[in-house]
Amino acid sequence: MRHLLSAGDLSADEITGILDLAEEMSAVQDRPVKKLPALRGRTVVNLFFEDSTRTRSSFEIAGKWLSADVINISAKGSAVSKGESLRDTVMTVGAMGVDAMVIRHMASGAPWQVTGWVDASILNAGDGTHEHPTQALLDAFTLRRHFRRLDGGDLTGRTVAIVGDVTHSRVARSNVLLLRTLGAKVVLVAPPTLMPAGIETWPVAVSHDLDAVLPAVDAVMMLRVQRERMSGGYFPTPREYTISYGLTRPRLESLRPDTPICHPGPMNRGLEISAEAADAASSLVLDQVAAGVSVRMAVLYELLGGAEEMPVTRAHEVLA
Ligand code: NCD
Repeated sequence: MRHLLSAGDLSADEITGILDLAEEMSAVQDRPVKKLPALRGRTVVNLFFEDSTRTRSSFEIAGKWLSADVINISAKGSAVSKGESLRDTVMTVGAMGVDAMVIRHMASGAPWQVTGWVDASILNAGDGTHEHPTQALLDAFTLRRHFRRLDGGDLTGRTVAIVGDVTHSRVARSNVLLLRTLGAKVVLVAPPTLMPAGIETWPVAVSHDLDAVLPAVDAVMMLRVQRERMSGGYFPTPREYTISYGLTRPRLESLRPDTPICHPGPMNRGLEISAEAADAASSLVLDQVAAGVSVRMAVLYELLGGAEEMPVTRAHEVLA
């Protein structure tokens, strides 16, 4: 694997390999000394043109726990705010000799373009409304753990409802690709205005009736209402959105008790998810965050690990 751009590029075996490796990596989280030497001498740059809390910090922690040098560059506070183009920024960072760039950008497709400009491995950390492959991997990791504990199975044959602002969601797109590859069924639930055009060609079931779907599914993934990407009125009022598509307390009670609830964060509490659902015993929201570090460690290791140890030239040899 040279880059990680789309969840659709991964075969079932590759996904399982990453999730298994992430299971091993997760042991580091429980150790007092959280450091493996695997990526010593490798440099990872986080290049974030959109806001982020968990994705950026978990890539940073993942790189650091593998002993890579990690540098963060965000649009605010860099030459991007002086009008520098994506190409110039990326080529400038690339010229410093970095091994991997983790890129979040508001333009769908940006990480693909970047692969043509630099030699580094490129990881897509969210491109516009298009894809977010490490989010889908961490969701699969979280759900696989849940089903293994529940009945020893994995994701094959499970039905996952993805609910909410599908139109603007790169999380939904990457999850559909990854879950289908793993043999799960996906039901997308959204108001017609937040269902993407061409949805009939996706390998999913579609519903506008959340109450009918909930009792029948094995997992529920709520999506954030992405108001920053909305220009017009996609729903009459927030209150009406919640009434039809929010995971409210009565809907929480309509789920089978062992049905896990996921949300990629950040959550709009009281809009797409109630506080009761977000904090329920069946909520895996914080497990997802923890999984993010393990999965990103596994992905960074897949892309950058296995390189030959650099020969160490001792100072006295250089000076002799
Ligand atoms: C998601 C994103 O940025 O696409 N968040 C995340 O990465 N945890 C989802 C969102 O912003 O709603």
